[in-house]
Amino acid sequence: EYRMALKITVIGTGYLGATHAAAMAELGFEVLGLDVVPEKIELLSSGRVPMYEPGLEDLLAKHVAGIEGSTGRLRFTTSWEEVGAFGDVHFVCVNTPQKHGEYACDMSYVDAAFASLAAVVREGALVVGKSTVPVGSAERLAGLLPEGVDLAWNPEFLREGFAVQDTLRPDRIVVGVQGERAEKTLREVYAVPVGQGSPFVVTDFPTAELVKTSANSFLATKISFINAMAELCEATGGDVAKLAEAIGHDDRIGAKFLRAGIGFGGGCLPKDIRAFMARAGELGADQALTFLREIDSINMRRRGQMVEMAREALGGSTFLGRRVAVLGATFKPDSDDVRDSPALNVAGQIHLQGGQVTVYDPKGMENARRVFPTLGYAETALDAVRGADVVLHLTEWREFRELDPAELASVVSSRVILDGRNALDGERWRAAGWTYRAMGRPRA
Ligand code: UGA
Repeated sequence: EYRMALKITVIGTGYLGATHAAAMAELGFEVLGLDVVPEKIELLSSGRVPMYEPGLEDLLAKHVAGIEGSTGRLRFTTSWEEVGAFGDVHFVCVNTPQKHGEYACDMSYVDAAFASLAAVVREGALVVGKSTVPVGSAERLAGLLPEGVDLAWNPEFLREGFAVQDTLRPDRIVVGVQGERAEKTLREVYAVPVGQGSPFVVTDFPTAELVKTSANSFLATKISFINAMAELCEATGGDVAKLAEAIGHDDRIGAKFLRAGIGFGGGCLPKDIRAFMARAGELGADQALTFLREIDSINMRRRGQMVEMAREALGGSTFLGRRVAVLGATFKPDSDDVRDSPALNVAGQIHLQGGQVTVYDPKGMENARRVFPTLGYAETALDAVRGADVVLHLTEWREFRELDPAELASVVSSRVILDGRNALDGERWRAAGWTYRAMGRPRA
């Protein structure tokens, strides 16, 4: 069987790394993935992942060595020596979470990965950073690598829930390089997607780093912009969904990322805009990004607005002793990720104010229970809404759009549903006798 010549390693096997490793094997390379957590390596070596990501386990099963019928191109290890001896190209995919109690991101995993890699990397190899880092990091990290080892910065734009397709068919590939050798190697790595039409943008280190944070900041800005318009609609009786549809027809604006509701969450957008502000401050350029503070506060305000809508639906004063059903716990559908989830945040606020909250989510229950064990949980949507005084729809899973409003109506104590994602068919719910309310939209 034909095998691509370059040998690739992937350091860090979270969302990004596990997907990247599987995708590189799919492209035909021999791949070695490393993680410092032995349990992760064990799981991945048996073709499984510790998160819900459509299509990823199938891709692993297709390539992980030792699995029957696999190509055997993909292996995992905890050994840095093995990684150093094996790799021509090393992709660093460790995460950079928000620092506790600070806006800045935590670079300790990246720094540790570079230190370990520097000790074992072969001369002539290429190290490629994929982690989202503050601008200026690549320049600094290049200095940690031995003579004769190049660095490139190659940010990643994959979305959770679409990680596999975004990695195999990226809508652009951005590489920050300091020399032609690194560019040539990366053109070889990405020859297949580039051949299929993915644009290949070559730039310097700071631009590559900035592309990533500015793309996420722009997406966050679009969402908060439409949520600000939702506030105007609420004040005037307008309909933000119609407004978004209408402005979205202007292709300079674009229809995507204009869904108003309880706002953005997850492991990327919120922490990336905060880290970007922190970095701008360090660089003496904070004025350039002060608008992001407003983007962040509009976003957080929408969560509060959902809590107020629920309070109002219950008669206006207190949540004490009232039953609140919450449909959705993850930060978006088709993911089991509850990091900075608006849904869980709203559920938590109501719980802390004395409401009896029962949560159901198709894939996020285990993670939600772990981060918020004191909330009530139910095994099905129907069980979650049983006896509820109000139902909140907070993550737009397909399963919730397919619920039968008449069936739910027969088990709730009060037929009121608040749609925090503007994703349900309001007419269908109203026809079944429900009071349906959405955010930034008029009441029927
Ligand atoms: C985001 C970016 O979309 C990816 O391009 C990027 O690679 C990734 O971060 C990253 O930095 O790793 P992701 O966090 O998977 O991807 O989630 P998104 O699909 O961007 O959604 C983010 C949040 O915005 C979700 O909570 C979603 O519900 C919310 N959202 C999205 C809205 O409230 N309205 C919209 O119109 C769109």
